[in-house]
Amino acid sequence: MTTANQKKLLRALAGEVQEVPPIWMMRQAGRYLPEYRATRAEAGDFLSLCYNSDLATEVTLQPIRRYGFDAAILFADILLIPQALGADLWFVTGEGPRLSTITTEADFAKLGPVSDIHETLNPIYQTVRNLSGALPKDTTLIGFAGAPWTVATYMIAGRGTPDQGPAHALKAENKALFEALLARITDATIAYLSMQIEAGAEVVKIFDSWAGSLIGDDFEKYALEPCRQITAALKARHPNVPVIGFPREAKEKYVGFAKATGVDCVALDNSVDPEWAAQHVQTDGCVQGNLASRHMVTGGQELVDDTRRIVQAFGKGAHVFNLGHGITPDANPDHVQLMIDTVRETR
Ligand code: CP3
Repeated sequence: MTTANQKKLLRALAGEVQEVPPIWMMRQAGRYLPEYRATRAEAGDFLSLCYNSDLATEVTLQPIRRYGFDAAILFADILLIPQALGADLWFVTGEGPRLSTITTEADFAKLGPVSDIHETLNPIYQTVRNLSGALPKDTTLIGFAGAPWTVATYMIAGRGTPDQGPAHALKAENKALFEALLARITDATIAYLSMQIEAGAEVVKIFDSWAGSLIGDDFEKYALEPCRQITAALKARHPNVPVIGFPREAKEKYVGFAKATGVDCVALDNSVDPEWAAQHVQTDGCVQGNLASRHMVTGGQELVDDTRRIVQAFGKGAHVFNLGHGITPDANPDHVQLMIDTVRETR
């Protein structure tokens, strides 16, 4: 019988060095797959797909069926938390997300309490329960949420921004409001991830996609500290559930991040040199990453060489193979297979 701790991903997250690392891919259920595009068309739009538990289960399983990844990540989005707190959310095709903005105390006062989020998010917990029963026995189920800073950048600007300018401006002009917003998102994230775990998520990942724009003390206050709080609260309730932190583009701030926050694994973006990270980050425990997503578009020998280099660089410690960011819609599904074959044959 296979017990939970025999799953490859859980073993890596517990610090085990493996001959072949477990593999999964950010955005592995996505538009580069024809079967995803078909299910997405059936659902109508992206948010309808997120809230339709049966179809969200189906798209989560598609890359597992096709590739046999070691982990499945719940199909949802980091912006469901703002919506569950009462913000308007919609997606503009070809452009990305739009939300009602939060720049004044009056905007903030319109948000609902954390205790109300589950009413909106119940279908997501149902997806987790479905997946828990449907996944192959060796496949680990990952739940996730956005980190408070990254979620706040979208709530403040009402959209994605190249430099997170509006969020930095609110932080400078009304620190009390900015910090109150971060605190609300932190509390909602703890409640949301706890419910995902209770529904069957075996690992959770915190996505801080814009952590790299927090400079100096701001990084400690608004990226590291919320991640530490969320991890501590989850560990108090669910001590055996590993947490993956992803402070994207944290550069030298990746050093010591796992120790300072209590996460079990740090996910590295592809701007990080793997040999450097093996010496300075992996010394604290498991790391995840970090092949450039562009290889999934271009393929070829470069893909093979970079994949081998990453597997070898991290081969002496605990490692989860992944991309450095999400796979893009223009990726070729055959290149994903080439990456997997390369990882599994390297050593
Ligand atoms: O990794 C996975 O497969 C799990 C599901 C997942 C999605 N989004 C599905 C999605 C996860 C973990 C996310 C995280 C997410 N969402 C982040 C953090 C990670 C990152 O990529 O930096 C952010 C910033 C978002 C917000 C978001 N959602 C944006 C900016 C967009 C539009 C950009 C785009 O690619 O079109 C989305 C939409 C989205 N989320 C899609 C998917 C599969 C594409 C939706 C579609 O049109 O079908």
